[in-house]
Amino acid sequence: MQLLDGKATAESIRVELAEQVKIRKQEGKKIPHLAAILVGNDGGSLTYVNAKVKACDQIGFESTLIRYDDSVSEEVLLAKVKALNEDKSIDGFIVQLPLPKHIDEMKVTQAISPLKDVDGFHPVNLGNMVLNLPGFLPATPAGIIELIKRNGIDTSGKHCVVIGRSNIVGMPVSIMLARNTNPGNCTVTLTHSKTKNLKEICQSADIIIAAIGRPGFVTAEMVKEGAVIIDVGTTRVNDSSRARGWRLCGDVDFENVSKKASFITPVPGGVGPMTIASLMINTLRAMELKGK
Ligand code: GUN
Repeated sequence: MQLLDGKATAESIRVELAEQVKIRKQEGKKIPHLAAILVGNDGGSLTYVNAKVKACDQIGFESTLIRYDDSVSEEVLLAKVKALNEDKSIDGFIVQLPLPKHIDEMKVTQAISPLKDVDGFHPVNLGNMVLNLPGFLPATPAGIIELIKRNGIDTSGKHCVVIGRSNIVGMPVSIMLARNTNPGNCTVTLTHSKTKNLKEICQSADIIIAAIGRPGFVTAEMVKEGAVIIDVGTTRVNDSSRARGWRLCGDVDFENVSKKASFITPVPGGVGPMTIASLMINTLRAMELKGK
């Protein structure tokens, strides 16, 4: 079994991006600037957004964090999105999801300019992804693909089973891996809560991507010997042995599945850091696309 070390891979990407920033600075060019909007105080979202800001600092990007209380109105949020669309100093921005129930996430996502949508969630960018046209790829799927690529895993002709059909992970990653690209050219089965015979389907998978947010859902009996396992789950579970009282738990029973897998991502330190690395890649591209 080989560990797919997202932390180390993301660190190499950060070093590459920092080098590009250094060169841009020497040439007197603009430095990429990412803004992030965070609504509320959800612990997980706060951790992710802080990690995104920290990655900007490490690479040398500028960053701006905009925070609102849970009670912020949709109108105020949409006005901020409009302002960021028009702000020439901001190259790309994200609105951390999920948003409170009274705010329509789709409306907010669609209000972001596709040219600044570095999360790749806007319908224009998702459409470009489907057609394999230039655009911003969603950060988590792009991070998974980059991790597969940089670890030399061959995907062509392989059966990939994706568990979970969310708009931000399961749906886009299944399309990206089915495209005629490298990595890609997989035969993809996209499974979800209504799927029958999930265990049998998983047993025939060369690659499993688990993205349902159910700790330990993928067990050893569901996995074929030598399969590649990508775990997108990051659920906080109570753990009194930790000072903070919780730990992050993936969708895969790592201890037992790792004994059968050829490659497997840990949680934490697998897909999470790669998501942030992809966001940084998209932010640099957003600036370059503007011809700056
Ligand atoms: N919530 C969970 N993952 C993501 C992500 O990649 N981007 C945003 N904006 N929100 C998320």
